[in-house]
Amino acid sequence: TKRIGILTSGGDCAGLNAVIRAVVFRAIGTYGWKVLGISKATQGLMSRPPEFVPLDIEKVDRLLTAGGTVLGTTNKGNPFAFPMADGQLVDRAQEIIDGYHLLGLDAIIGIGGDGSMAILRRLAQQGGLNLVTIPKTIDNDVDITECSIGFDTAVNTATEALDRLHFTAASHSRVMILEVMGRDAGHIAISAGIAGGADVILIPEIPYTIANICGKLRERQEQGKDYSLVIVSEAVRTETGESISSTDPSGQFRYGGIGQYLANQIAVCSGAETRVTVLGHVQRGGTPSPLDRLLASAFGVAAVDLIAEGHYDRMVGWRDRQVISVPIAQAIAHYCVVDPNSTLAKTARGLGIYLGD
Ligand code: F6P
Repeated sequence: TKRIGILTSGGDCAGLNAVIRAVVFRAIGTYGWKVLGISKATQGLMSRPPEFVPLDIEKVDRLLTAGGTVLGTTNKGNPFAFPMADGQLVDRAQEIIDGYHLLGLDAIIGIGGDGSMAILRRLAQQGGLNLVTIPKTIDNDVDITECSIGFDTAVNTATEALDRLHFTAASHSRVMILEVMGRDAGHIAISAGIAGGADVILIPEIPYTIANICGKLRERQEQGKDYSLVIVSEAVRTETGESISSTDPSGQFRYGGIGQYLANQIAVCSGAETRVTVLGHVQRGGTPSPLDRLLASAFGVAAVDLIAEGHYDRMVGWRDRQVISVPIAQAIAHYCVVDPNSTLAKTARGLGIYLGD
């Protein structure tokens, strides 16, 4: 029998609890192991005594549809340069490694994005931890896997927002601008933009000009359409390359900005009335879509099976209709952004959507 830990790390997203449920069902239901839910990512292992909740089937039974993560999470505090109260950055990696051994764990499942996976892997290498990871992030920027947990739900939410904005845009003859998340990748914007019928999709991977956006709006006006929908990814820069949307380095607050910048610029150059919606964290919380529940269930079962087979230092993923697993190093070697020549990009252009350039 084995004793395994599970933790969620980095920003929350829909489907994390569904993964926890699947892991417990498989680990306890099939193999009869013990499962410890580690509190607040690696911080639970850093605490003394380590903070965890013993999980059982009863506790996770109703978690399939619950948003967030019952284990808690954080994206603050890289343990290799952990910010102390006095502002000093201290290497606390060994405390986490010791926490793992104090709990007598045989293996740990880490649910995280590329940043969390890189940190977990470094800890595993340094401290001899048996690690398996599961990709989650609304940004869908983890390489190798076609989708990460949380992405589909975020795309659903952003698409629904566009559907709603469509009515107001048409009723008021306005240009409505929707700013969505995605970190440095435009996956949410391009997917929701196509699915929600946007006229302009701006992503960090493809440069744009205000003049070309306004050209697109004029073209629509000439066709008798006096309203438009624009979707923009948070990391898109100003026309002159200035970055204006981000989280401040301390993680204390976020600057919005690119949506408002575009609203001002488009109003000036087209004369249209513009309004901005910054969608924010509603893309992260909430009930997972059926696809995210499926992925969460498949990934949870597969991660436990990898441990049962003694295969560590691997990430599970989804490719060609099935679960795969790859060395974590391979998954974090590249940051996955939108390929400007991908099928989705070609589709957007093919539909007459302005996608930049
Ligand atoms: O990585 C997920 C994500 O929601 C990004 O899309 C966004 O840039 C960031 O996290 C927001 O982080 P925070 O919750 O710290 O503001």
